[in-house]
Amino acid sequence: TRHNIPTARYRTFTQADAEAARAYVRAEGAPIVIKADGLAAGKGVVVATTPAEALAAVDDALAGGFGAAGATLVIEECLVGEEASLFALCDGRHALEIGTAQDHKRAFDGDQGPNTGGMGAYSPAPVLTDALVEQVMARIIRPTLAGMAEEGHPFTGFLYAGLMLTADGPKLIEYNVRFGDPECQAVLPRLMTDLCQLLLGALDGQLHHMNLRWLPLHALSVVMAAKGYPGSYAKGTEIRGTEGLESDDLLLFHAGTRREGGRLLAHGGRVLNVTGLGTTLAEAQARAYAAVDRIDWPDGFCRRDIGWRELQRG
Ligand code: GLY
Repeated sequence: TRHNIPTARYRTFTQADAEAARAYVRAEGAPIVIKADGLAAGKGVVVATTPAEALAAVDDALAGGFGAAGATLVIEECLVGEEASLFALCDGRHALEIGTAQDHKRAFDGDQGPNTGGMGAYSPAPVLTDALVEQVMARIIRPTLAGMAEEGHPFTGFLYAGLMLTADGPKLIEYNVRFGDPECQAVLPRLMTDLCQLLLGALDGQLHHMNLRWLPLHALSVVMAAKGYPGSYAKGTEIRGTEGLESDDLLLFHAGTRREGGRLLAHGGRVLNVTGLGTTLAEAQARAYAAVDRIDWPDGFCRRDIGWRELQRG
């Protein structure tokens, strides 16, 4: 707000302001979003569709429903549109756009089920056209970097902008100061420029002299997770069939596996990422799922519809 970066209209409240929080909700009406200000592993958000639901969410949050993360609440306007992510590499003063992607946060096909860390992603996100990317860089990323430098906190590293593409243009939902997972597994396989040189360029404040080169390909990454994720799940189940799958256009990223003897075992919630590359998104998707189908892991699951939004657009 201080730097006029387009975002949702919002106010923050602590437990001491409970009555003010309720009054704000009554005045704003619904839909409205109630968020924990702290980190809550993706579980700190309620999108309330009625005022009663919003008031109940505020009361629950102020009673400790979000844990310590909810000591401060953010109550904000419900932005309507399509979500997309843009990544920027920053050197304190300059930012280079380093890819766009769309994640799939819900556990099951059709965007059903609980929120997860992300069940699959594709890059680029064609919904972020070149014109929109330039708009995001001009109105969101560069003003953020300039504002941070001006306020004495120049930022070096990855900025991950979570965006809502609203009828009024792209708005910033949140920043993470890291790459996305699984977005990274779809963005970086397309990058031809040496990542090490880019990271050194960021450290040296030289990004304005650097250009990115990309493979003219689409990438789509499917997450294979342990059954039960994002709830409780078993560890130590055996995964077969990963040998010999990788090629120039099929990459396998191990997120939560371990080797024991000659066996590959699951050792986490999100366990494997299977990334396919193709000249079209449909081709990338077909490659990824053909590899998924060769992996024999009865205790795992994945979504079968990664990429649906873009593929449906045709
Ligand atoms: N995939 C979402 C995240 O990395 O936060």
